[in-house]
Amino acid sequence: MKFFIDTANIEDIREANKLGILAGVTTNPSLVAKEGVSFHDRLREITEEVSGSVSAEVISEDAEGMIEEGKELAAIAPNITVKVPMTLEGLKAVKAFSDLNIKTNVTLIFNANQALLAARAGATYVSPFLGRLDDIGQDGMELIANVAAIFDRHSIQTEIIAASIRHPIHVTDAALNGAHIATIPFNVLSSLVKHPLTDQGIEKFLADWNKQK
Ligand code: E4P
Repeated sequence: MKFFIDTANIEDIREANKLGILAGVTTNPSLVAKEGVSFHDRLREITEEVSGSVSAEVISEDAEGMIEEGKELAAIAPNITVKVPMTLEGLKAVKAFSDLNIKTNVTLIFNANQALLAARAGATYVSPFLGRLDDIGQDGMELIANVAAIFDRHSIQTEIIAASIRHPIHVTDAALNGAHIATIPFNVLSSLVKHPLTDQGIEKFLADWNKQK
């Protein structure tokens, strides 16, 4: 499983990129709005920093508008992936982008049929939202496992991005259940390296080292 970062914050993206594990970035309109910057300018900065896929979401609700917006986004840099919501209009747009060789990430996936439809329309990625399903008492991880099983069974190449990740257990379980990618907020990404025994071990090694005569 690969790691994407789920943010539009350029400092966090730069910091994560230094770790040598960053394969891409996902943004959404809420994350961009939090930054208070021009969307296109920020996408330029991100695509200069990260060579992997950078998802940029359209806000139009009709296919025609999505296609127009998506073409403009895709023109910013070759590694832009156009993020499209899971609707009937979204599927039409995904098909059009696929014909134009523009990569797509179909977002707001909450059941396996939505994932299968997106894949068949030509999506490069699908993003099932784990955390938001858990929030309403449904099993987000079961969705990842089901989508992975269906894609495997039907030899579908579309990659599964485990999204709406809230904590480290989501990350481990997404990997175990067949997600190709997890897109993770910076605070969760940083917490993945932590273990109290690692900290204690470092402290003890240093204390012993300093006892040397
Ligand atoms: C993914 O592409 C989405 O931007 C994101 O994971 C949504 O997460 P949230 O449910 O924490 O807003």
